This record gives sequence, C-alpha cells and structure tokens, in this order.
Amino acid sequence: MQFFLNIYLILSLLTNNLNAFTPIARDLLSTIKVDDKVYFHGGYNDSSPNITATEFFYLDISAPFNVNDKRTIPWVNLSNITGSPAKHGHTACVGGTKKSSIFFIGNVRDVPPFVAQFDLTRQKWITSTNESTVSLHINRTQCVTSGDGIIYFLNGLTTNNLVNFNTINFTWTFIPVTVENRTMYYCSTTMMPDGVIIFIGGRYVDNNSFVSLEKFTTYNTTSASWGFIIPSGFGPSTCFPEGSVLTNYGHILIFGCGEAFNISVVDTTNNYTWIAPIITNDYIPKNLMSYSLTLIGDYVLMAFGFLYTDIILDRGSQSDSIYILNVSQKNNYTWITSLGQNSTAFPSSTPNTTENTSLVIDVSIGVVGGIFIVIADTSHLYSRISQSNYSLILHPANT
Ligand SMILES: *[C@@H]1O[C@H](CO)[C@@H](O)[C@H](O)[C@H]1NC(C)=O
Ligand SMILES: *[C@@H]1O[C@H](CO)[C@@H](O)[C@H](O)[C@H]1NC(C)=O
Ligand SMILES: *[C@@H]1O[C@H](CO)[C@@H](O)[C@H](O)[C@H]1NC(C)=O
Ligand SMILES: *[C@@H]1O[C@H](CO)[C@@H](O)[C@H](O)[C@H]1NC(C)=O
Ligand SMILES: *[C@@H]1O[C@H](CO)[C@@H](O)[C@H](O)[C@H]1NC(C)=O
Ligand SMILES: *[C@@H]1O[C@H](CO)[C@@H](O)[C@H](O)[C@H]1NC(C)=O
Ligand SMILES: *[C@@H]1O[C@H](CO)[C@@H](O)[C@H](O)[C@H]1NC(C)=O
Ligand SMILES: *[C@@H]1O[C@H](CO)[C@@H](O)[C@H](O)[C@H]1NC(C)=O
Ligand SMILES: *[C@@H]1O[C@H](CO)[C@@H](O)[C@H](O)[C@H]1NC(C)=O
Ligand SMILES: *[C@@H]1O[C@H](CO)[C@@H](O)[C@H](O)[C@H]1NC(C)=O
Ligand SMILES: *[C@@H]1O[C@H](CO)[C@@H](O)[C@H](O)[C@H]1NC(C)=O
Ligand SMILES: *[C@@H]1O[C@H](CO)[C@@H](O)[C@H](O)[C@H]1NC(C)=O
Repeated sequence: MQFFLNIYLILSLLTNNLNAFTPIARDLLSTIKVDDKVYFHGGYNDSSPNITATEFFYLDISAPFNVNDKRTIPWVNLSNITGSPAKHGHTACVGGTKKSSIFFIGNVRDVPPFVAQFDLTRQKWITSTNESTVSLHINRTQCVTSGDGIIYFLNGLTTNNLVNFNTINFTWTFIPVTVENRTMYYCSTTMMPDGVIIFIGGRYVDNNSFVSLEKFTTYNTTSASWGFIIPSGFGPSTCFPEGSVLTNYGHILIFGCGEAFNISVVDTTNNYTWIAPIITNDYIPKNLMSYSLTLIGDYVLMAFGFLYTDIILDRGSQSDSIYILNVSQKNNYTWITSLGQNSTAFPSSTPNTTENTSLVIDVSIGVVGGIFIVIADTSHLYSRISQSNYSLILHPANT
C-alpha cells in the first residue's frame, strides 16, 4: 500500500497535481455526499472562526487517497464561489428541483440566513429563500429527506415542531410534535426507506434531561402521523448524538452514545434490537466530538471535530483529520485508511482493540445490573457539561 501511495505521490508531483488545498482544523461543520463528491461547509476553528465559517470545499471520493497522508487527500477548494454564508452547528440535505441543490440549515450564530442554498448545476449560492417565518433558534439538528424535495428537521429550542420544508415551492409547514409535550432537541434523526422518520436520543429543552431510549419517537411522512417504537435488547443509557447513519444492512448507527460517546447500533430489520457492534481495531480518538458524519456506500466518513483533553474544563483543540469506518460487515466494523477496493484495515496502534466494544457492553449491562451507578456517573458527567453551557460543543454566537 505504502509503495503504491509513494508512486501516486511521485506521479502527483510530476504532474503538479498534489493537492494544494488542505483545510484547517474545525468542528461543528456540515457535510453531504452528492454523487462522487462530499461537500464540506463551515465550522468553527477557535483561532480563526470567521474564516472556517464560510469555507466551502469538497472531497473527491473518486480519487484514491490515504487518510494518514494529508497530502494525498483530494480536497477541492470552492471558497472562490462568492456568497457562502457564515455557519457552524448546521445541517445539510439535498433538495430543489431535480435534487440539484444543497440546503444548509441552521446556525449556532444567531445571524441569517437561516437556510442557504447552493445550486449544484449553476455552482452558485442562492440566498433568496423565504425564511421570514422560520425561527432562527436552532441548534445542531439533523435534517433528513426521502429525496422528493421535502426536508424535515426538528426545530428544537423554541418550538416543539417538526419542520416540513418544501424546497420546490419554498413553503414551510410546522408539524407539532403531538406525542411529546416537552421540546426535544439534539436527537439523531433517521429517514427510513418507507418514509418513516425515527428520532433517537437527544435532550429535552426544559431541564436538559435525556430523552429516554426505552422508546423512539417516529413520524410517518406518508400518513402524517406520530408514533413510537419500543426497541428490544439492551441499549446504552443515554445518547447525546453527533448524528446517525442508516447502513445498507438496515442498521442505524448512532454516534455519541453512553458515557464514552460511543457508536450504538439499532437493527431495524429485527424488531429494532440494540446490538453491540464489534470494532476490530482501535483507531478513532475516543475524545472526539462535534465531527461530521457522511455515509459513502459501506463506509462512514467521520471528519474533523473537537478533540477534548478535559471534558469538564473544556480544554482541547479542533481536529483537521478524517476517519473512515468500514461498515460492510453486519456487526463487525473496521477503521480503515482509504475508500474502495484498495482500502486496508488501519493498523491498530495499541492492543486496546476490545475497548470500544466492551464500553458499549458495559453501559448496556449497567442499565440492567447497576442502574444507580451508571446513571449517577453519567448525570455527573453530563451535568458538568451542561453547567459549562455546552461551551465545549456550541460556540458562542458572537464570535
Ligand atoms: C485552527 O486550525 C489550525 C490549523 O489547522 C490549528 O493549528 C489550530 O489548532 C486550530 N485551532 C484550534 C483552537 O484548534
Ligand atoms: C467575526 O465576525 C463577526 C460578525 O461579522 C464579528 O462581529 C467578529 O468581530 C468577527 N470576529 C473576528 C475574530 O474577526
Ligand atoms: C488499486 O490499486 C491498483 C494498483 O495496485 C490501481 O491500479 C487501482 O487504480 C487502485 N484502485 C483504486 C480504486 O484506487
Ligand atoms: C480557497 O479559495 C479562496 C478563494 O479563492 C482563497 O481565498 C483561500 O485562500 C483558499 N484556501 C486555501 C486554504 O488555499
Ligand atoms: C472555483 O474553483 C474551482 C476549483 O479550483 C473551479 O473548478 C471553479 O471553476 C472555480 N469557480 C469560480 C467561480 O472561480
Ligand atoms: C444554542 O444552544 C446554546 C446552549 O443552549 C445557546 O447558548 C445558544 O444561544 C443556542 N443558539 C441558538 C442559535 O439558539
Ligand atoms: C407547495 O407544494 C406542496 C406539495 O406539492 C403543496 O401541497 C402546496 O400547496 C404548495 N404550496 C404552495 C404555496 O404552492
Ligand atoms: C406532559 O404530559 C404529562 C401527562 O401526559 C403531564 O403529566 C406533564 O405535566 C406534561 N408536561 C408538561 C411540561 O406539560
Ligand atoms: C405509514 O403510513 C402509510 C399510509 O397510511 C401506511 O401505509 C404505512 O404502513 C405506514 N408505515 C408504517 C411503518 O407504519
Ligand atoms: C418483536 O417484538 C414484539 C413486541 O415486543 C414481539 O411480540 C415479537 O415476538 C418480536 N418479534 C421477534 C421476531 O422477536
Ligand atoms: C471482523 O472483521 C475483521 C476484518 O475483516 C476480521 O479479521 C475478523 O475476524 C472479524 N471478526 C468477527 C468476530 O467476525
Ligand atoms: C491502552 O491500554 C493501556 C492499559 O489499559 C493504557 O495504559 C493505554 O493508555 C491505552 N492506550 C490508548 C491509546 O488508549
């Protein structure tokens, strides 16, 4: 692998093709895959927040690269296209006529535009969306779409609504979350192929307590009706999700569950059973938060994020790395160095290979066998986070 990589580097140098653009570290960015490109927008770098906030670039996933050698990563800088809005803590979905636009929704910064549209065909930012009736107060929601031009997202914080945003005729419909009288936010949101949206984890706005994982709220977009699912098996005690992806096996991977902010998995094909995934190597930094997630076929691209050194004291720095998880096997995932057929398992740097799995299992068992200990522990951890007003995760609006 190293040999071919060297050849690639030499060829690249010869053809003057080595990637000139390398994005700097950031967290709270927004990503979306369209065909063979993964678009990246915005984010927050403590040292230069106003620069990262408007940056726009893509990763060319048709080209080979190795995540460990940043010079090989085929980034393309699109910040030359004028009109990119400053955003962090936002979410992205595809919409518009012929699915030809990306909509970037939300902003921790309390400044408009709330929605920014990038027209992929014309390669232009469009800022004329009528958003006058839409609350700006939204924090880290996850939008979903079934590809029909309707984008859904929870409007957290101020109103207890699911927003139906019709990107074809630019109409907004606010759907009260009638099954919950408390406003949820920060939920992982997953669109199933049958048009049912599943909300897992998150918090309640009123007192910051966690949404129970004993039932999942659902919304059937066909019948416009709310419901819930009772999962089977033993899951984590809490999820404070970074987001979720739905794999080709019908597994929902929720990132940011349990005390260790781990990956938890729900098998939607088997009675919505919680399963503890095996992760064969131990590569991903365990102290990463506020990264982005993108499903690319059988791979999950995890990008950038905040690397905390002390979660209580909110010390750490942003990451400029990307990570790839191979989820092509049903319950057995592997961190790898590159996409595609030439990908190799990432060599485990330490023998701590079972740690990821055992943490998930610990938490699962803890719910049954040691409920007081686990809950006491997590609430301590989380209450310290909430006391610091999420400064770790949500940067102030005025910077
Ligand atoms: C901002 O990005 C630079 C370049 O990647 C990085 O060196 C720096 O650590 C980042 N700032 C923070 C606070 O992480
Ligand atoms: C970033 O932009 C905001 C809004 O335009 C401005 O108020 C702030 O001073 C800028 N911060 C820095 C560090 O330039
Ligand atoms: C895989 O490696 C071979 C050479 O070893 C190369 O010809 C081929 O293009 C590579 N494929 C991808 C998808 O990178
Ligand atoms: C990306 O492109 C913009 C606009 O051309 C330019 O100002 C910026 O410096 C570029 N970024 C990097 C890191 O090269
Ligand atoms: C911006 O840069 C990209 C990548 O270099 C290039 O393909 C595109 O034509 C440029 N667009 C404008 C408007 O300059
Ligand atoms: C996001 O949440 C944080 C913490 O609750 C809050 O301080 C901030 O004002 C919120 N931002 C917006 C835009 O509502
Ligand atoms: C927008 O489109 C939706 C779905 O086709 C339709 O129900 C709605 O009436 C339209 N609204 C306007 C203002 O055209
Ligand atoms: C929510 O509803 C339950 C019963 O359905 C009620 O006990 C509770 O007080 C309500 N909470 C709020 C915040 O309205
Ligand atoms: C969603 O609603 C449609 C229309 O009523 C119904 O046919 C379908 O079975 C529902 N889906 C689920 C999973 O309940
Ligand atoms: C799925 O769960 C329901 C309700 O708990 C139960 O009746 C049913 O037997 C379960 N099915 C399977 C295949 O486990
Ligand atoms: C998981 O996958 C890895 C890599 O493909 C393989 O070496 C390992 O044997 C598998 N483990 C299990 C339990 O299937
Ligand atoms: C691996 O485990 C050992 C023993 O538990 C520990 O000392 C070491 O810090 C761990 N390494 C990493 C990278 O987690």
